[in-house]
This record gives sequence, structure tokens and C-alpha cells, in this order.
Amino acid sequence: PSAKAATKARIAELLKARNAVLVAHYYVDGDLQDLALATGGCVSDSLEMARFGRDHAAQTLIVAGVKFMGESAKILSPGKTVLMPDLDATCSLDLGCPADDFATFCDAHPDRKVVVYANTSAAVKARADWMVTSSCALAIVKHLKDQGEKILWAPDRHLGRYIQKETGADMLMWNGACIVHDEFKGLELDLLKKDHPNALVLVHPESPESVVAQADVVGSTSQLLKAVVESNAPEFIVATDNGILHRMRQLAPNKVLIEAPTAGNSATCKSCAHCPWMAMNGLQGVLDCLEKGVGEITVDEAIRLKAHGCIDRMLAFVA
Ligand code: 13P
Ligand code: SF4
Repeated sequence: PSAKAATKARIAELLKARNAVLVAHYYVDGDLQDLALATGGCVSDSLEMARFGRDHAAQTLIVAGVKFMGESAKILSPGKTVLMPDLDATCSLDLGCPADDFATFCDAHPDRKVVVYANTSAAVKARADWMVTSSCALAIVKHLKDQGEKILWAPDRHLGRYIQKETGADMLMWNGACIVHDEFKGLELDLLKKDHPNALVLVHPESPESVVAQADVVGSTSQLLKAVVESNAPEFIVATDNGILHRMRQLAPNKVLIEAPTAGNSATCKSCAHCPWMAMNGLQGVLDCLEKGVGEITVDEAIRLKAHGCIDRMLAFVA
């Protein structure tokens, strides 16, 4: 067998021996996604990753994704060991919202419900009333608005603006962005659509307004995948990290999938829409977790207890 196949077989063996399960995001390397599915783990969006890790009986969760996903798993399952293939895999939204600055922002607006996106540190979540992911943000903000609440939102400005537009909620926003989705370009998308008039446009809401405005479907990674599988359209333009194309091709092999344009789409860079932190996850990293126990995620217990409330509230809402 090839070296890759041998590594995969060794990982599968160790997952069993160590009572561990692999929980992967759609943006990580296709081999990791396949391995997660083949070994009884999951490949999903950030909401489902949190739920799957919490509900699975395994004592060890190997989270292939970025840091906030590992932290959420640990916050929900303090008794489990949570390992990540690369502890440096973070997220521009998390980096752009330091807990101290965020606390000052919250202190200045005590009359608002604090709603944070999953893509934040445990310390930021500890300050929040609600955590949301892209798959339930709209429903939760609508619920809060219906209760007459004003909202303090962080950190993604594009997702925040999209929700504000859809719900009409009073939202004060942090000014963060995802370095991957922020690069999709509305003008180039408009031109691409003209070349593919029958294509449905699928957009993750972390994208700029000019891109979201042209979407047929706006949603989380799982929701975009569902749209490809369930729609009768033959062709799709996909405005999210291109890691998701692996699973889309598996589940809808006859559909034509076209990457949405970024500033970098050119002869030299065909696939610029890929998160550099998600790309840090690999088979070797997973093997190191299992063989050496490296990559452990820890969360300070006082912070964990505070952060647990906002995640739990979301999970109860979507149950
Ligand atoms: P999803 O919740 O849609 O999987 O998004 C997570 C993420 O990091 C998107 O960039
Ligand atoms: Fe963060 Fe964007 Fe990477 Fe998702 S794709 S982890 S939002 S930087």
C-alpha cells in the first residue's frame, strides 16, 4: 500500500485502540474528511461538529479544523480529551477580536444582548449571552429581536450586516472579517454569472455584501452542500472555501461546480479561496495526536464555565 494508505490504516487502528473519534470540518484536506467518515467520525459545519463531539461516547475527540472548534468541543465536554493536529490553526475572526478589547466594547453597552459568532476564543464567549453559528444566526437574532432585545454583535461584519438586513434587528457591530470570504468579488461574480446563466450561486454569509446580493442560496457550509444535493440545477457557482468541493463532488458527482472569483483567481492562482489555517490539518498531525498525545486543547475552568452558557443556549435553541 502507499505511504498515505498505510498512515490512514494506522490512524484508523489507533482511533479504535484509544477510544477516539475524528471530527472534521468541510474545509480540511479531503483525505481527512474521508478518514473521519470511514472511521465513524463526522464531517460537518461548525454547529454539527460541536453537537457531534458533545454527544459521541468516545473519550478523546480529535478535532480537525481551527482552534475555536477545538475549544468549543472542550467547553462542551470537559471530561473528554480534545486534541488538534495543529494548535497554531486559528481564524482571522478570532485573532481580530481580542478578549480585553471586546470586554471594553461590552462594558460600554450594557443594555445590549451580546451575541458572538462561533469563530471566537473561549474568553470572548465567556462574555457573551449567546453564541451562534452561520447555520442558526439568523433564527436566533430574529428570536431576540422579537423579544425586543437590542444586540451587540461580534466579530464578522459581513455576517452581521446580512443578519441585520434580513431581520431588521438593532445591531451594534464589531469590525471583523474572514480573510478567505472577504476576497470574493461582486463585480467578477456578476461577469461569471453572465457566462453561466443557468448556474445557482451559493454564498457563505461571511462574504461581502456585493457577493451575498447575487446569491440564490446564502448559508452555512452544510446548508450550501444540501443545496447542491437537493437542487435540480446542473451548475453551481460556490462562494466559500474550496475545501468544501471535495464533499460536494462526492455527494453530487454529476453537478458542475465552479469556484466563485477572488482577486487572486488567475493563471497562477486557481484556488485562492482556501483557509491557510484549515490547511494546517493533515494526516501526520492526526497521527501525532494519537501516537504522542500532542495538540491538547485546554480551557481555563472559570472561562469554560462562563462560555458554556452561551453555547448551551444555542444548542437548546436549535434542538
Ligand atoms: P460553518 O459554520 O458554515 O461551517 O463555517 C465555519 C467557518 O469557519 C466558515 O469560514
Ligand atoms: Fe476563519 Fe475564514 Fe478560516 Fe473560516 S475560513 S476558519 S472564518 S479564516
